[in-house]
Amino acid sequence: MQFDLEHYFKECQALVNEALDSSLPKKELHPPKVHEAMRYSIFAGGKRIRPILCMAASEACGGGRREVLPIACALEMIHTFSLIHDDLPAMDDDSLRRGVPTNHKVFGEAVAILAGDALLSQAFLVLGKLKDSLRDPRCVLEIIYHIASATGSMGMVGGQVLDMEAEGNAIDLPALRKLHQLKTGRLIAASVLSGALMAEATDQKLAAGACQPGSGRLAAIESYGEAVGLAFQIADDILDIVGGSDLGKDIGSDAENKKATYPSVMGMEGAKKAANIAKEEALGSLNGFGPEADALRAIAEFIVERRK
Ligand code: IPE
Ligand code: IPE
Ligand code: MG
Ligand code: MG
Ligand code: MG
Repeated sequence: MQFDLEHYFKECQALVNEALDSSLPKKELHPPKVHEAMRYSIFAGGKRIRPILCMAASEACGGGRREVLPIACALEMIHTFSLIHDDLPAMDDDSLRRGVPTNHKVFGEAVAILAGDALLSQAFLVLGKLKDSLRDPRCVLEIIYHIASATGSMGMVGGQVLDMEAEGNAIDLPALRKLHQLKTGRLIAASVLSGALMAEATDQKLAAGACQPGSGRLAAIESYGEAVGLAFQIADDILDIVGGSDLGKDIGSDAENKKATYPSVMGMEGAKKAANIAKEEALGSLNGFGPEADALRAIAEFIVERRK
């Protein structure tokens, strides 16, 4: 039977949205402006693909969805922070995000910058609360380490710097691949890895040193995450050209900003092929898994076929 991804998405999105609501400061809390701005972008919409990948990876490794909810929320907060800053006039200068005006259009640049900063901090606050979970603190620390590393100058932030530097300049495919791996791939890979770590890192395995990324099932999950992360950004580049109004963000922004993208470097057909190759690589990484990884497989297909 075909995996019902639509149903899976709905269930996971409902769980994450509820958890996000309870893990963000209420709108009325002092100072209300920044809390309103944080909630505005978080609840404007969004596919919640990183949280869903985290839950699916946990399930593929024998864990559950609820136990990874704090991690899922943290990932979505970090991602939303990156979107708010990405849309700023100093960066992509976009006015539509998740179907509504961008954060700075509504709250002004200063508050948008600060709301992004606050979401990033809130993410690590939520992760810090995992100290109260039943998991071994070593596992929690390992997860925090991977998410921080995927977010900072060696990850998403570094990729955004490369993205700005490449504007209007010639770039070759290896450099573009690196740029995409950093700006988008690493946080997606960390989403998958952190879900798997939470599921796999039992006290027993940790004691045996079996829960280092790079070993066994975690290595397979990690390469799935890397491949699917690259595919995701290639598909995003394609959608910037062919996307419809339901995309919920400015179409043609990349061409306007002379961005380095897969279609600009390889042409549209080349970009589609590259996305499919990355998808096949992702699927191949899951060969050692049975039906418990069907959600991850279906998500890989979705990532290259999506319309938004
Ligand atoms: C868009 O991410 C920005 C990228 C990193 C490519 P998403 O396509 O996941 O955006 P939302 O969360 O659904 O709005
Ligand atoms: C964004 O890449 C990557 C981030 C880290 C936010 P894009 O600039 O292509 O994302 P969109 O198309 O604006 O969502
Ligand atoms: Mg950008
Ligand atoms: Mg952008
Ligand atoms: Mg884009």
